[in-house]
Amino acid sequence: MSSIKISPSILSADFSKLGNEIKDLEKAGADLIHIDVMDGHFVPNITIGPDVIYQLRKYTSLPFDVHLMISPVDNFIKNFAEAGADIITIHPEATNDLVSSIKKIKSYNKKAGVSLNPKTSVNKALSVLNLIDLVLVMSVNPGFGGQKFIPSVIKKAKKLKELINKINPNCLIEVDGGVNDKNIQALKNVGVDIVVAGSYVFNHDSKEEAIKSLQI
Ligand code: DX5
Ligand code: ZN
Repeated sequence: MSSIKISPSILSADFSKLGNEIKDLEKAGADLIHIDVMDGHFVPNITIGPDVIYQLRKYTSLPFDVHLMISPVDNFIKNFAEAGADIITIHPEATNDLVSSIKKIKSYNKKAGVSLNPKTSVNKALSVLNLIDLVLVMSVNPGFGGQKFIPSVIKKAKKLKELINKINPNCLIEVDGGVNDKNIQALKNVGVDIVVAGSYVFNHDSKEEAIKSLQI
């Protein structure tokens, strides 16, 4: 069984040197780079936009796992696709037509993800499971790094994995928020493919050790 892939979130990085932080993550063994885009409207926080992602693109060839916490999201899918995103993940609440938003992402040859907030049922992803490449299961309420992991998400991921195995076995499960060395085994046990880790990686005295401790 392959090890869980690690997508460190740069939300916890030093924003004054994001390029070098991304280079360090690649050197430390990251599999993807998780980029949290927040607009201060969909979530009560503001981070970076497509122009910054365009500049960051030259610092690594690792996949950019872009998590859009913005609404309305449709207006910006093209910008993030052209900026260099590889995976574009959106929240169902941020669009009036989830299927058309997913098709828009795919029209730019990007992988499409749907993110489920802790209170959003897996059924929200059910209707599009055959169209998407990834479900991002939030284990914190979106908006900030460094929050506590919500344990009920493990059962939710297990239920989602059963649905994925039935409907679209190629669809990946990514868990995002409060992931660390204490909850990684439980996530692996239910078949999670990728985890996002922000504060756990950036607060650790060695990014490499932190990442390795999650690649189980
Ligand atoms: C929260 C973001 C997460 C967050 C993860 O809205 O989507 O990606 O940055 O950070 P940690 O791992 O610190 O919870
Ligand atoms: Zn995220």
